[in-house]
Amino acid sequence: MSAPADSRRRVLVARILLPAGKELLAEECEVVEGGLDVSGERLRELAPGVEAIVADPTVPVGDELLDAAGAGLRVVANFAVGYDNVDLEACRRRGVAVTNTPGVLTNATAELALALTLAAARRTSEAERQLRAGGWVGWDPGEHLGLELSGATFGVVGMGRIGRRYAELVVPLAGEILYASRSRKADAERALGATQVGLAELLRRADVVSLHVPGSRETTHLVGASELRAMRSHAVLVNTARGSLVDARALAEALRAGEIGAAGLDVYEAEPSVPAGLLDAPRCVLLPHIGSATRRARDAMARLAAENVLAALRGEEPPNRVA
Ligand code: NAP
Ligand code: GLV
Repeated sequence: MSAPADSRRRVLVARILLPAGKELLAEECEVVEGGLDVSGERLRELAPGVEAIVADPTVPVGDELLDAAGAGLRVVANFAVGYDNVDLEACRRRGVAVTNTPGVLTNATAELALALTLAAARRTSEAERQLRAGGWVGWDPGEHLGLELSGATFGVVGMGRIGRRYAELVVPLAGEILYASRSRKADAERALGATQVGLAELLRRADVVSLHVPGSRETTHLVGASELRAMRSHAVLVNTARGSLVDARALAEALRAGEIGAAGLDVYEAEPSVPAGLLDAPRCVLLPHIGSATRRARDAMARLAAENVLAALRGEEPPNRVA
């Protein structure tokens, strides 16, 4: 049987952790929270002597924070499935494990991608803005015309957990499902009738392109000016993955020039800053990174982050180790 985690062990929650995870941690550890507005400097003040850090996508974890924590640090548990905010190499060099929260937010995020797909295709944000501003003067047969999705070709970029769930959700609408991914997904091909193609072909053929690959050096600006030009002029681009995947300036220009039909975005390159060009771009739905924001998903993420910390502190293999 494994020994319980030492009650004097200190865990630094970089910002906040929902009670579902915080209470679990507090049963065995001293939990210090930085708070939603914590600065990098304050984090480094809180870090000395902690054995675990619970981070989230807004918290860069690199040499500075790791050095501040010191040699007792065992694990960085990211409260997210994406972990591009964590310098994996820096953690490896120090023998610090890194974990994430996969699976429990798959449905929530795929559902939000579907919501963005529908909202962008039917231009619901601009229609609602016009109504709220008192600008609706009567039913106009030629106004707010959008893209009908029944029979559309859907392109899923990154057929992993969330991409696959998104593809399942759009099956009733889709005429065809194309996907671009590193490896072939025979099961998705069998079960959903999806077809693997290269990214260039997907962009050229799809009516809807939904991005689901992780943020990384490899995927930075995967969709830039030339990719946007290659898309169909009515196509909808949806990004619930990472802001770094899309060149936001090129996207704003493509929307303005009518090179693509619409966009639905949940993520931005330098959050919480949203590029001004996107804020006033036409046919664009913008959400504040709420992909996993359901009660069920966020509680499960908090529990999973806590379980990863506790396992690492007990000397066990954390269930969701990525490095
Ligand atoms: P996942 O299961 O690891 O899926 C990622 C998929 O992307 C995998 O199928 C992978 O291919 C593919 N891939 C990776 N690099 C690629 C590349 N360079 N080119 C083409 N395909 C590539 O991850 P997930 O759980 O679906 O999550 C995906 C991402 O969504 C996360 O990393 C995170 O950034 C984002 N996310 C955002 C929110 C939000 O709140 N908006 C919430 C959750 C997640 P292989 O299968 O061949 O490895
Ligand atoms: C959220 O962005 C996540 O990666 O879980």
